[in-house]
Amino acid sequence: MKGLILSGGAGTRLRPITHTSAKQLVPIANKPILFYGIEDMAAAGITEIGIIIAPATGDEIREYVGDGSQFGVEITWIVQDEPLGLAHCVLIARDFLGDDDFVMYLGDNMLEQGLTEFVEQFETARAAADAPQLTETAVVPAAQILLAKVDNPTAFGVAEIGPDGEVVQLVEKPEVPPSDLALVGVYLFDPTIHEAVAAIEPSPRGELEITDAIQWLVTSGHRVNHEVLVGWWIDTGKKDPLLECNRLVLDTLRRSVEGEVDDASSIDGRVVIEPGAKIVNSTVRGPAIIGAGTIVEDSYVGPYSSIAIDCRITHSEIDNSVLLRRSSITDIPRLTDSLVGRDTEISKGDARPRATRVMLGDHCHLEIE
Ligand code: TTP
Repeated sequence: MKGLILSGGAGTRLRPITHTSAKQLVPIANKPILFYGIEDMAAAGITEIGIIIAPATGDEIREYVGDGSQFGVEITWIVQDEPLGLAHCVLIARDFLGDDDFVMYLGDNMLEQGLTEFVEQFETARAAADAPQLTETAVVPAAQILLAKVDNPTAFGVAEIGPDGEVVQLVEKPEVPPSDLALVGVYLFDPTIHEAVAAIEPSPRGELEITDAIQWLVTSGHRVNHEVLVGWWIDTGKKDPLLECNRLVLDTLRRSVEGEVDDASSIDGRVVIEPGAKIVNSTVRGPAIIGAGTIVEDSYVGPYSSIAIDCRITHSEIDNSVLLRRSSITDIPRLTDSLVGRDTEISKGDARPRATRVMLGDHCHLEIE
């Protein structure tokens, strides 16, 4: 079994962060989102992983991931010149995938449940192909999809399931949903998917859709199994789901205070202060994480804050936020529900006339008190 992680794409919904960096590298509890997916694959015993990257952000992703040895896996890089769809990723990964079964994982998705059980179920079902005595009763699946129960199925790709648990139909954003089971960004395929992605046409939005490829499998008489996800699943491609994911992961944090904390400061609850961080005359209330080299002074860092490395928080209060590296927050009475990019400065000025002065990049979002 091989792994294919999709880490290209346009990332329009997470601009301006994605103007200069890959959304899959945004840290959740100070670890890039993509790393969680690679670790889940490694834990499921998958050691050959292909990663799809875009020309603009690929080099940075390669730099972060390296050769994969930090995860105990071997990485093959596959550059997708344009984001032409999830099924297009399978098309261009053909040489890497060969005739192996594989798990495909969207690099900006995160699951609470690991991949091990999901992979094992597919392998067991596929093993029937090598045991002729079983094939009379078991239909060998060509694919297995992961589904999650959702409250608003009209916003998702939704699956209709038949009496034997087989997928009968997939519908994208249905007006009348056939079920409340939405497609999660993890799929298992056998090599039949290569026929499917070669057979389908681009959708009206110009992409080769993986839902169309799976529907092609079903229509062509191949069996597609499903599993219903246990635990949470988040597509982190927008700010608010990303902050929600940050909260869920911080909730699992174990306290560890390795940085410097002076006597005037208090560290309450599940807090990680990385080595080399400094807390001066401040309160940090968990769950929260403060990155190496960050200085928090005369400030309050409240629950669900992930502060990356080399940041500076001075005379400010912050909670439920993710700060990327080298950002600084100075004299801000309250910053909440925020995602702050790298090398960003937010401060209160004394200049007259009293006013808000900004230098914002393209596609920013600023909400003033
Ligand atoms: P999406 O979030 O569906 O697409 P996107 O990254 O283009 O984002 P947006 O809609 O905000 O513009 O993609 C899911 C994952 O798959 C994500 O990690 C990016 C990746 N991807 C590719 O690698 N190639 C592609 O052609 C597409 C569409 C996505």
